[in-house]
Amino acid sequence: MIHPAQPHADLTALNTLHLPARAESLQPVEAAMDLPALTEALLQRGTPVLVLGGGSNIVFAGDFAGTVLHMRTRGIELLAHTGDTVRVAVAAGESWHDWVAHALAQGWHGLENLALIPGTVGAAPVQNIGAYGVELFEFVDRIEAWDMQSRIWLQLDAADCCPGYRDSVFKRSLAGRAIITRVTFRLTTRPHVRCDYADLRGALRDAGVTAPTPRDVFDAVCAVRRAKLPDPARLGNAGSFFRNPVLPAGDAARLLAAHPGAPHHAGGDGSVKFAAAWLIDQCGWKGHRRGDAGVHERQALVLVNFGHARADDILGLAEDIRRSVLARFGVTLEAEPRVV
Ligand code: EPU
Repeated sequence: MIHPAQPHADLTALNTLHLPARAESLQPVEAAMDLPALTEALLQRGTPVLVLGGGSNIVFAGDFAGTVLHMRTRGIELLAHTGDTVRVAVAAGESWHDWVAHALAQGWHGLENLALIPGTVGAAPVQNIGAYGVELFEFVDRIEAWDMQSRIWLQLDAADCCPGYRDSVFKRSLAGRAIITRVTFRLTTRPHVRCDYADLRGALRDAGVTAPTPRDVFDAVCAVRRAKLPDPARLGNAGSFFRNPVLPAGDAARLLAAHPGAPHHAGGDGSVKFAAAWLIDQCGWKGHRRGDAGVHERQALVLVNFGHARADDILGLAEDIRRSVLARFGVTLEAEPRVV
């Protein structure tokens, strides 16, 4: 049964920056099979559609003059267990962190480094969530999505999704048309840990762990995130507000010659990824507050809403940060969350 839509719906509690905004209509989606009928009706009426998961990567710049489809589908299904590999299908509306914790409890490993990332399973592939040396698509087997433009169900494998750093086909050719309904993961029952990331190694060392188990890694990631990143339930934020800039070899060499201390990692094909947090921090923004908009005091890449900030406050602050980083380092920062 399709639940009734709510007219003139308040979206403030549905976005983790807690920005005040309304949608003409809010339609809960409780079953993926309802999507064809729902989207067809909206398309016929010419109503703009926005798909919302946990609202943790979105900036509502104003009200949305259309229908927000709020993905609330649930279900975790073990499809196959062969040798030490499991394939598990997870509905788009499941909470990402709850799924990571559930997988760990079942002894299905791989996702521990991605613990505590806010949002839903269905939103995770869009920006190929990544943290502490691991990216989502390493564990994606296939993705099911409803393409409301072609009116067909898509079955995509990981390569079809063209994953990149905070990027996928869902931000490009399938943007605004494909609604992810289910993600199938390929995980392993053989404990295997990844703890090369400096912060993670430090946390394990501090906890006195010498031979980390997947549970140790999960706990250490949670500890690092809790220490550095604000909990959106307490302090509005959308995680990293900017992507880490990836510069071509020549530009990277020039930046490093002028600023040898700039934290960086080798990207592919000679490109170099720089830490946006460091660039912003060097410009003196960390802990800066302007009204109710601010830069988090422990992570310069995170913009926060202290209570009653409006979109203009957050976006104005972001623009000033972008300008000062450009002026000082010649580097253009790009916003990470989607501005609607
Ligand atoms: N740094 C500063 N000042 C700060 C914070 C960090 O100089 O205020 C420096 C650190 O010393 C470090 C470097 O910047 O050398 C990188 O910092 P960090 O390890 O905290 O990671 P990040 O590059 O800032 C990325 C992701 C995070 C993810 C962490 C951990 C992006 C845009 N952000 O942040 O993802 O949790 O790595 O893997 O790639 C998110 O996307 O919302 C997010 C939180």
